[in-house]
Amino acid sequence: MELLRKGLWRGIINEFREHLPEIRDDAIVTLKEGNTPLIEARGLKDILGEVRLLLKFEGLNPTGSFKDRGMTLAVSKAKEGGGKAVICASTGNTSASAAAYAAKAGMKAYVLVPEGSVALGKLSQAMIHGACVIEVRGSFDEALAMVKEITKRYPVTMVNSLNPFRIEGQKTAAFEVCEHLGHAPTYHFLPVGNAGNITAYWKGYKEYRDKGMVSSLPKMMGFQAEGAAPIVLGRPVANPTTVATAIKIGDPASWQGALQAKQESGGTIDMVSDAEILDAYRLVASREGIFCEPASAASIAGAIKMKRHGVLKDGDTIVCTLTGHGLKDPDTAIDTSTKPVRVSANMGEIIDVMGF
Ligand code: F0G
Repeated sequence: MELLRKGLWRGIINEFREHLPEIRDDAIVTLKEGNTPLIEARGLKDILGEVRLLLKFEGLNPTGSFKDRGMTLAVSKAKEGGGKAVICASTGNTSASAAAYAAKAGMKAYVLVPEGSVALGKLSQAMIHGACVIEVRGSFDEALAMVKEITKRYPVTMVNSLNPFRIEGQKTAAFEVCEHLGHAPTYHFLPVGNAGNITAYWKGYKEYRDKGMVSSLPKMMGFQAEGAAPIVLGRPVANPTTVATAIKIGDPASWQGALQAKQESGGTIDMVSDAEILDAYRLVASREGIFCEPASAASIAGAIKMKRHGVLKDGDTIVCTLTGHGLKDPDTAIDTSTKPVRVSANMGEIIDVMGF
């Protein structure tokens, strides 16, 4: 297996073409997504012991989240088919990615977001890329139901993860993990919202195993937020709540895919509280130098929970996907951090604050 692909990265379609649906060259819409780092995290040993923890930092994709992997293929396929417009419901990241790739493709993007539940950075992205941003007085689940109806009646392509090309593109993250490590990890931890990503990773791992690229499969460990944990509870949640707005979803579209990943891999779909999510969010920022968004930290919070429950063993290789960049949601970072100290332009006061 080629460990590090040489030369300039060409985006996931060109890099993984033999593993993806066919597409015409002139239809490819790419912002060179993918090739995100797998970062060794050594600063959590007091909590996680001697497990090997690696962080797949998907916040370093072009629009700051993993959605770009699926969006490049979904928008390219729409373009290949002569589509002129795309539409999605979103808690923010999908809308940012759809808006950017539609802009690159010269297509129109319509994005439906739940009013008041989208982090500032994500909203700003959809707006600046020129999407038609529709704030729905309702939940993500209601917005998605309407998007499904609209695409049945009007000439616009849905780019939510119900679009199979989204899953196809997103599975490439699992390929990258295998190529970086030279094998599959023991466990793969992910936040779960609409459940497309865990479905995609599992598909990717299985394909690489079936093609002989790796010999084993990881256990898939999906984590929902306690106030938005329909899969854990086994029933839809009418009014989901969580500080992790990206995964504030009560009736995930890929519910079955998540269950299949759990069952086939011998993993779990579990939940973590907002307090656990925010602790993990601050921990990875303050000890590892990685600023991810709150929803992303559900993967780390999940790993910490599993360590506490005696599931993880010394020597296990654990990958946590950090799905989005922390700059997406500056409000939560500011709300949960120590406030700046204000002083006058006076050396004495400053030295005093510095504690010397
Ligand atoms: N992490 C982040 C940062 C997300 O934006 C999402 C989903 C997830 C995790 C969960 O992934 O839905 O595949 O299980 N965001 C979607 C959106 C719903 O609209 O941006 P999932």
